Amino acid sequence: AAGEPLKVMISGAPASGKGTQCELIVQKFGLVHISTGDILRAEISAGTEIGNKAKEFMNSGQLVPDEIVTAMVTTRLSGEDATEKGWLLDGFPRTLLQAESLQKLQIKPDIYLILDVPDEILIDRCVGRRLDPETGKIYHLKYFPPETEEIKGRLVTRPDDTEEKVKQRLEIYKRNAEAIAPVYLSITKKIDGSRPKEEIFEEISSLLSQIQKEKAKKLGKS
Ligand code: AP5
Repeated sequence: AAGEPLKVMISGAPASGKGTQCELIVQKFGLVHISTGDILRAEISAGTEIGNKAKEFMNSGQLVPDEIVTAMVTTRLSGEDATEKGWLLDGFPRTLLQAESLQKLQIKPDIYLILDVPDEILIDRCVGRRLDPETGKIYHLKYFPPETEEIKGRLVTRPDDTEEKVKQRLEIYKRNAEAIAPVYLSITKKIDGSRPKEEIFEEISSLLSQIQKEKAKKLGKS
């Protein structure tokens, strides 16, 4: 028996590598990736009401109001896809209020991963980051350059990736991370995110496989 599907939260400062690891996790474990940053950027591109509300906040490096983001996430988490395949929540909860909203709905992950990366590296990663608007793939001019000239030609920079805005996002992250920490303390796993991405993924992958095994065992006993 496969056991209950995995429920994973991934957290970490801006540019700590959440999106990069999520690509790899989804490939291997088939979880439904719910990234509040990606969803909000898609809403902005599509010019929806949520997108219009979120735009100013995001582009200036501020958080989008809790109620907008919380509604977005809880709808997706309760969807059939996420309940069947399991989920990978990326960039949420980002405030204590958001964490409390999930607790109230009895939504709890199996593991709370934190990617730990020193500040100097984070700024370098943000400033060199580029996105492929067609595939959603994340690149870095120095560390992960695009494979072809064609891809290179269409890459875009995020409006919140300037050094000044990154510093502000980092401050906001630190304040909130401290407030959320006690909620998930017993299931928190801190990962050294300054290593090569394959090495980080190997550690995450073995943690998730272990949880999967335990879940299958539990199912066998019940
Ligand atoms: P969001 O999109 O979640 O941004 P973030 O948390 O700031 O995280 P990033 O996307 O910047 O970085 P990442 O950790 O995914 O790193 P990546 O893999 O790209 O949110 C954006 C905004 O949306 C927020 O500021 C807020 O306004 C709003 N928002 C979102 N959620 C919200 C919420 N819950 N409540 C309120 N507002 C919300 O990697 C970064 C770079 O480094 C890339 O170039 C990559 O190629 C490179 N890289 C990655 N790993 C490595 C490695 N191991 N070695 C070398 N380079 C690496």
